[in-house]
Amino acid sequence: MRILCSIIILMLALFQPVFSFAGEKEEAMGKQLFMRYCMQCHGEQGLGNGPNVKAAEMDPGPRDLCDVEKPYMKTKDNAYLITAIADGGLGIDKSALMPQFKYTLSDYQIFTIAAFIRTLHKHDSPPLDFSKAKRTKETLPVKKIEAGKASKRDKLMGKKVYKKYGCSGCHAINENGGSTGGDLSTVGLKHDAHKMWQIIKDPLSVNTDSKMPAYNIDEKTGAILVKYLSSLK
Ligand code: HEC
Ligand code: HEC
Repeated sequence: MRILCSIIILMLALFQPVFSFAGEKEEAMGKQLFMRYCMQCHGEQGLGNGPNVKAAEMDPGPRDLCDVEKPYMKTKDNAYLITAIADGGLGIDKSALMPQFKYTLSDYQIFTIAAFIRTLHKHDSPPLDFSKAKRTKETLPVKKIEAGKASKRDKLMGKKVYKKYGCSGCHAINENGGSTGGDLSTVGLKHDAHKMWQIIKDPLSVNTDSKMPAYNIDEKTGAILVKYLSSLK
């Protein structure tokens, strides 16, 4: 009996490639990226219950990607799913708490995440077509910005920008906000204005292991945001 079992296991191992579905490699890669960039909010299983949700009192909450409560993700086509990840909430008329990832990940990587998300719910969409997905990622140029001392008005405006881009989803200021990005209550003591700006536009250039999404914010708005952050001491 034991020998028979071993033979069956050996046969299964040998023939595994024949049974493996197309796209399994991409789905596995997408899962890895999901655990790195998405689970903080969407949860390890994609149920919408990651560690940031409670800490940041997120409203709306991150989408349940498994369609447990009601069928939603299944009603969205692949192109929509890709846009949601690439352009974030601001790109699909949803909350900015959902960051944009097109300056953090390549098309190919975004496609792999979408392929993984499709494994989380029942749907009729065709498998993702990777033939058009570029493997290179766009990076944002980081120009110098002028960020002097912040007036009261600057601080108020900076707070608004911080809110508009959903930074509080991952960061807390005075115990208000998410947990995985670290507390920014005294970040003004830590980095000068230019470094802060670099972190916002191209976090990977500052920390090759960064988990922060890159933000496409223009210089003028960036200066206001950085002035505000620099005033946090
Ligand atoms: C900082 C928290 C946060 C992170 C990180 C995050 N999301 Fe989201 N996500 C949200 C929130 C909040 C919503 C709900 C937006 C709304 O309904 O207005 C959302 C919505 C979505 C949606 C559904 C859009 C819709 O039509 O409702 C998808 C798909 C999605 N996220 C995928 C991802 C993927 C993939 C990643 C990682 C690459 C990711 N999210 C990272 C917070 C986050
Ligand atoms: C999806 C989560 C997430 C979001 C949203 C996010 N960050 Fe971050 N941020 C991080 C993480 C994680 C780090 C820690 C270092 C790293 O991984 O790059 C970080 C680090 C930082 C730092 C450096 C902090 C330090 O102590 O050195 C600053 C400044 C910062 N973020 C600003 C912002 C701003 C401004 C926004 C909104 C425009 C924002 N972050 C949105 C995750 C996030």
